[in-house]
Amino acid sequence: MCGITGYIGTRNAAPILIEGLCKLEYRGYDSAGLALLHNGVLDVKKKKGRVAVLASEVQSKPFYATMGISHTRWATHGGVTDANAHPHISSDGNIALVHNGIIENYENIRKFCESKGYTFKSQTDSEALANLIAYHYEYRTNKDTKNRLLEAVRKALAHVEGTYGIAVLSKFHEDEMIAARKGSPLIIGVGKDEHLVASDVLGFAGRANRVIYLEDGQIASITKDNCEIITMGNKPIDLVVNDIDWELETADMGGASSFMEKEIFEQPKVLENAIRGRISDDSSTSVLNGLNMTPNELRQVDRIIFCACGTAWHACMLAEYYIEKYVRIPVEVEYASEFRYKNAPLDKSTLVFVVSQSGETIDTLEALRESKRKGFKTLAITNSVGSTISRESDGGLYQYAGKEVGVASTKAFTSQVLISLLVALYMARMRDLSFSAGKSIVDSIISLPEHVKNVLKLAPQIKQIAKKYAYKHDFLFLGRLGEFPLALEGALKLKEISYIHAEGYPAAEMKHGPIALVCPECPTVIFANTEEIIPKLVSNAQEIKARKGQLIAITDTPESFEGLADDIIALPKVHEAIMPIVATIPIQLLAYYVALERGCDVDKPRNLAKAVTVE
Ligand code: AGP
Ligand code: GLU
Repeated sequence: MCGITGYIGTRNAAPILIEGLCKLEYRGYDSAGLALLHNGVLDVKKKKGRVAVLASEVQSKPFYATMGISHTRWATHGGVTDANAHPHISSDGNIALVHNGIIENYENIRKFCESKGYTFKSQTDSEALANLIAYHYEYRTNKDTKNRLLEAVRKALAHVEGTYGIAVLSKFHEDEMIAARKGSPLIIGVGKDEHLVASDVLGFAGRANRVIYLEDGQIASITKDNCEIITMGNKPIDLVVNDIDWELETADMGGASSFMEKEIFEQPKVLENAIRGRISDDSSTSVLNGLNMTPNELRQVDRIIFCACGTAWHACMLAEYYIEKYVRIPVEVEYASEFRYKNAPLDKSTLVFVVSQSGETIDTLEALRESKRKGFKTLAITNSVGSTISRESDGGLYQYAGKEVGVASTKAFTSQVLISLLVALYMARMRDLSFSAGKSIVDSIISLPEHVKNVLKLAPQIKQIAKKYAYKHDFLFLGRLGEFPLALEGALKLKEISYIHAEGYPAAEMKHGPIALVCPECPTVIFANTEEIIPKLVSNAQEIKARKGQLIAITDTPESFEGLADDIIALPKVHEAIMPIVATIPIQLLAYYVALERGCDVDKPRNLAKAVTVE
């Protein structure tokens, strides 16, 4: 995915575009560029590296313009070079384009454009679209057409297969910017005598309090005073202008050294936000408005499918654990990208959930769309109000975790897990879960923020442990039942921010192959918080030690691992329902401190992006 900003108004565009890009840099950051248009001159600056590199280039060679587009890239086609950075300019010099997504048929488009005399400077798919629009402008739209640029973009997009969020300028249209989307997010900010375009509201750089959500297959013609939207079939669309809730949308580091540090340590508050207003008066169940399903409809559900990607997929694994344990109906967790194409046999009373922090992950969005095409009720758990997934689902639950900027998800994960527990409790109390069992779960949920606060106090100890193991080559994470998903999440967290290879397994599964990795250079982190199987976990620990493997135990029975584990992170004994959330905190801190020790960028890890809006 990437970050796009566009501005058309009465002010100097460059600083506004750069400020917006800085706010969007978490979305992709391998290169950045902008195109400014003034008096028929397109001034283009684009550089490999972070937005700061572009900003100093812009500062050293200022160009005044009141309209422009800009982009921070997450490469899909073509390496990270100045030439492959966006914006891309058509070879006739007319069109400037920034693009988020993948043009799947770009090679055919490139061949076609070359056959018409257009040339290429980059290896990207996006440049093909810039030349295709230029071709349609020059040869396929009438010279005196009123909305010639809009028409050229619309006709060009009709030939595109794949996904796009684009902003387009033409040097012959100094008062108009075009925006279009299909599969990649793009929104329009409404300011005073100005309009903005961005991948998400942070890209407006605080200059708009109202927003128009562009939908897939729509194209907008934007001037400083006006916005018109049409469909690909050239049908006008009525504008719907929404207010922006900046409370939910803004994020600053608040004195922390990184967004990841801030987001790890604000989890007690985040969990309180997820709970607020969602506990019943008699404290025996949860109250979930927004599912848009009656209790009777929920009682008819006899199978649930969860679809997500990455860390959100691990949260779904815990949703499965909770629902099968308390609601007693089967749950399947699917990688969203797999669900979309595998055509799994589903029976009619299946309910589908999609889980997505950003609400824009294309794999998850397409899984939602496939589920709806098959006629299933599809609900969303997301942290992003107004996101595409939130708008296209049949209902769902917001996380209210506040903007998560750190690319490696932390607070969004624990928030998703807690909301999954609330869903399980809600459905279970409509079936066999008793009042007293429900009440004890509710009491544990209410105590959760305090327990998390106390475990966060272990940070200094975990920092020392991280320093000890920071230069190991591999890690194994082991857990059982509700802690197997934590083993997966711990491995993902470590590898995505410290770049150490790590794998998560069910603890007993380690014997069936992964134990071959165990050696002094491959420590093992083992979760041991499920009382009835502690003896089994101790045996697994013995097997590790017998092979000279180092062991870090995350456990609420430290005495079981005294003299066995090399390091013990002792957790409080809490209700089984909230233990997976409490036990998540140490693995977030471990990964964070290992990455810091290795000098890695914890907020913007290499190769990653916060919301992956390309397939
Ligand atoms: C999280 O640590 C990763 N950056 C990534 O796996 C992420 O969880 C995944 O891309 C899903 O994102 P979403 O929750 O916004 O859909
Ligand atoms: N596919 C385009 C490229 O590789 C856009 C990538 C993005 O969304 O940042 O340049």
